[in-house]
Amino acid sequence: MTDISRAGTFTLGGRTVKRLGYGAMQLAGPGVFGPPKDRAGALAVLRAAAAAGVNHIDTSDFYGPHITNQLIREALHPYPGDLVIVTKIGARRGEDGSWNPAFATEDLTRAVHDNLRNLGVDVLDIVNLRLMFDIHGPAEGSIEAPLTALAELQRQGLVRHIGLSNVTARQIAQGRGIADIVCVQNQYNLAHRHDDDLIDELAAAGIPYVPFFPLGGFTPLQATELSDVAARCGVTPMQVALAWLLRRAANILLIPGTASLDHLRENLGAAEFELPQDAMAVLDRIGTKDGAP
Ligand SMILES: NC(=O)c1ccc[n+]([C@@H]2O[C@H](COP(=O)([O-])OP(=O)(O)OC[C@H]3O[C@@H](n4cnc5c(N)ncnc54)[C@H](OP(=O)(O)O)[C@@H]3O)[C@@H](O)[C@H]2O)c1
Repeated sequence: MTDISRAGTFTLGGRTVKRLGYGAMQLAGPGVFGPPKDRAGALAVLRAAAAAGVNHIDTSDFYGPHITNQLIREALHPYPGDLVIVTKIGARRGEDGSWNPAFATEDLTRAVHDNLRNLGVDVLDIVNLRLMFDIHGPAEGSIEAPLTALAELQRQGLVRHIGLSNVTARQIAQGRGIADIVCVQNQYNLAHRHDDDLIDELAAAGIPYVPFFPLGGFTPLQATELSDVAARCGVTPMQVALAWLLRRAANILLIPGTASLDHLRENLGAAEFELPQDAMAVLDRIGTKDGAP
């Protein structure tokens, strides 16, 4: 069995988590909407992740909606003492599966209570406020009102820690003036490197950066350099993509998503593979600060 602690640990919301975690979004149905085709398979993936030592799981009640959290609860409740579940609020799904901003105080309050109920907990470990000024990427706009509302829910004891997702550096600075921000979750991978400077700034502040779409998301990463390095090192391209992130900065925590047991094992296997320094240079050619996936 893979020893995922080989990838090291980091502090997330005052707890120590392994840098290789798991993102649960892929467990919902097609388009992250409705139930999975293979419910037993989804439960098996969650149990296998926990059995392998994963103690950082990323989710949201708007995956499904509700489905992913309900699967996590069914698979893992009562939760292991060291498990940190990170959820996110700020969107509501339409009946057609659309993703709609939901930032009014009553929306955020309802979302926190939905997460509590569906995860089966009295307090949420970490809640990311997922900004939706532009659904596809960070865009400027004040986060004062929704973050103040979330901080009030934290004050009421429903939320232990607060993070931010799909944010700009300016919004993080604004947010840190309102609440203690314990993590940032933005899109970032080998080919999509808009946050290079931000990652280094957060590293200096000791704040974890959790890239979403670490494998490219709905369009998995493909590049000649990636295939070449994988072949040379005797691992798979996806393991190289994860190992590159692990080596990129110590504050990067991984939450690759999959509904497949084989892919889960493959992804966790990246913990045992250290990318040679010269391969980093080759892989750096794939993405630039202006690069897009
Ligand atoms: N904050 C946000 O706005 C936001 C947005 C998106 C996602 N997220 C979070 O980030 C997590 C990670 O993102 P993601 O799951 O969308 O994208 P990802 O981890 O980059 O990639 C997942 C995709 O890659 C495939 N895959 C996984 N492992 C593979 C492997 N070893 N070989 C080949 N294909 C593989 C998966 O399909 P299979 O199921 O077939 O393996 C799936 O299609 C999510 O689960 C979610 O928790 C957050």
